[in-house]
Amino acid sequence: MDKIQINGGRKLEGEVAISGAKNAALPLIASAILVDGTCEFNNVPHLMDISSIRLLLEDLGAKCFFEDHVMTVDGSGINKIEAEYDLVRKMRASILVLGPLLARFGHAKVSLPGGCAIGARPVNMHLSGLAALGANIHIDQGYIEARAEKLTGSEIYFDIPTVTGTENLMMAAVLAKGQTVLRNAAREPEIICLADALNQMGADISGAGSAIIQIQGVDKLRPARITVIPDRIETGTFMVAAAATRGDVRINGCNPDHIGGVISKLKEAGVRIDTRADQIRVRGGDPVKSVDIQTLPYPGFPTDMQAQFMTLMCVAQGTSMIHESIFENRFIHANELMRMGADITLSKTNLAIVKGVPELQAAPVMASDLRASASLVIAGLMAKGTTVISRVYHMDRGYEAIEEKFSVLGADMVRIK
Ligand code: EPZ
Repeated sequence: MDKIQINGGRKLEGEVAISGAKNAALPLIASAILVDGTCEFNNVPHLMDISSIRLLLEDLGAKCFFEDHVMTVDGSGINKIEAEYDLVRKMRASILVLGPLLARFGHAKVSLPGGCAIGARPVNMHLSGLAALGANIHIDQGYIEARAEKLTGSEIYFDIPTVTGTENLMMAAVLAKGQTVLRNAAREPEIICLADALNQMGADISGAGSAIIQIQGVDKLRPARITVIPDRIETGTFMVAAAATRGDVRINGCNPDHIGGVISKLKEAGVRIDTRADQIRVRGGDPVKSVDIQTLPYPGFPTDMQAQFMTLMCVAQGTSMIHESIFENRFIHANELMRMGADITLSKTNLAIVKGVPELQAAPVMASDLRASASLVIAGLMAKGTTVISRVYHMDRGYEAIEEKFSVLGADMVRIK
């Protein structure tokens, strides 16, 4: 397994370009299942998770071609409705093929995605939503089997604004008979990106980005050419890294409007941030001040930025209260940060109390999940000396060319095979 070795204590300076958003590309690629023809997706990042969903679609019979950030998917040859455990277990977002398969073929069999390090990750809202659209759902030997002659539009209310739940049901509803209304829907930019793409394919969706999304069923979708939005979490990760190393970094090809929660918290902590249409400049300087955060559904502070922000708070002046309200076990990185000298107290109620220390110490650490690995990279960039991070395959799931991008900014970072 690869490791990343960082000689820290250097300022990050210069410019970095943001890749396409993993969490937008995954549902977009799944939506190609709905189309009897070839869709083209531009600005697709080269990531492990993208390879996983490509393999899954090819296993179903789709023809995919992926080169230089452009992926084409020809869904006309799909001849299988079963997403197998071996493929789904590699990436739980594979659940996103359930809605499209059911909508187009009236039948789908998808392995139940297991939990992961950060939580149980149930899919009950996906299933109850499909049942509301008239699907017959049953679970047998770890597989979800869904059948429906023809889905019928309905009112669906989400207890929690689930991101992939909203995406799955939006894709299921586009070919249903009549109107579907999703209430308490997720409002993430990735939802808007998917709705725009489906409308380009001929769907009739309104309200995406708000808590109430209306979908008028249509008979058929047609191929389209789609561009994936920039990755707001990669953007936030580089912002925090620039602040943590007291550097001066221009982040290009991003959308500042998608990362407002992080911008306002970094400003509150005393970081200098200037934004333009598609660029954010971050200048660190004096030690940051401790600020409190609570992770919330969009547009609140994103849970996918909690680990990275915690690293910055480890060396802030004061005490920061970090409340993780989305996932039940998303503080695994805290234990590794404590090994680097951080002063963190974890409570039973998903609260981390972070008392700032002057600096972190380099140490061998282990990544546990995608965003935890990013938080450890930021810690290694700050800490003087050599930090070695193991299990970086977590990082490769969601960050494209990470060591190259940080090296261009002046980091001393190498991958050890
Ligand atoms: C998406 O996961 C993202 N993944 C996650 O990013 C992100 O952390 C999460 O949304 C929250 O923003 C993708 O988009 C591929 P949820 P998702 O359904 O859709 C509970 C990353 O780092 N819930 O919005 O699985 C759930 O347990 C990943 O890129 C149910 O109880 O998250 C959680 O507590 C990590 N029942 C909360 O809702 C359900 O049926 C929010 O989950 C569905 C969800």
